[in-house]
Amino acid sequence: MAAPAGLSRKLFKMAAPRNCFRSASPLLSEACPRWRRPAEECFPSVTSAEEPAPPLPHVVAPGSHFRSGLTRAPPARGRDHWRQRPAQTSDPGPPMSGPPVCTAPLGAPLIPGTPYSVLVLQEGYSRALPDGRTEADGSVTLVRGPQLTLVDTGGPWGREQLLAQLAAQGVAPGAVTHVVCTHGHSDHAGNLNLFPQATLLVGFDLSRGRGLYLPHGLGAGAPYPIDPGRVEVVPTPGHTAAHTSVLVQGTALGSVLVAGDLFEREADEDVWRGLSEDPARQERSRRWALSVADVVIPGHGPPFRVLRGEPQAPEPN
Ligand SMILES: [Fe+2]
Repeated sequence: MAAPAGLSRKLFKMAAPRNCFRSASPLLSEACPRWRRPAEECFPSVTSAEEPAPPLPHVVAPGSHFRSGLTRAPPARGRDHWRQRPAQTSDPGPPMSGPPVCTAPLGAPLIPGTPYSVLVLQEGYSRALPDGRTEADGSVTLVRGPQLTLVDTGGPWGREQLLAQLAAQGVAPGAVTHVVCTHGHSDHAGNLNLFPQATLLVGFDLSRGRGLYLPHGLGAGAPYPIDPGRVEVVPTPGHTAAHTSVLVQGTALGSVLVAGDLFEREADEDVWRGLSEDPARQERSRRWALSVADVVIPGHGPPFRVLRGEPQAPEPN
């Protein structure tokens, strides 16, 4: 199987394609021929192939600046984060369009890069227990470079573990310049008080120092640049109204989206809608993510690759 252009055979090999999105393209109407697996096995909810492609909620242009003009997110509703709600089917959204999109496990916690690398310090998980409870913790990711950014801090029960994970990387909490919590759920924002000196962004709340809150354009669809063109926080509403993700561009594998609970894990079609405040909105955010990201770090599973392009014949043995 040919590796996508610009991707070394070694890196490609560790990411065996596994999941494919059905596309509006006739090529993908029955199966993803590139990976020879019926798309509906992976994403059965994306069914219509007749509707026009939707406008994306955000558009990243070269230089990673968003087109603004999004409507403000509705106020968040109180809810039990881990209580599954019935999947909403009234507004599933239009189908995927454009080139085929497949995903595959990355198989490694580190995405190298200069000046920014991305390291998953803690791989998030969620497990249903026989008694009806759910055991879960969020992914914790370190973006290393001229600015040192921690994306999500795990649950408060993991304070000592987080300190140890940072120490193992030679990072003192005081060296972290930015902490981004993709949203305010307790398994993602549990250890903020380890980083009082950092610039803090929790959902759309941006603060620095002693209770000093700063203006920004996230609510209007604009990114918050940590390092413009390299590391930017982008609004990805749906799971919560003020959900954000961190886009790191220019790594060895391309653009990395640290996505919080925009994606629970790879191949999460069975679960994400039930955890979403606004599934239709989250679906649009997810489509955008799959159009720009080469690697996605989900909130409760290992990193996965996003592979786009036209179908290719497998390599001869
Ligand atoms: Fe969440």
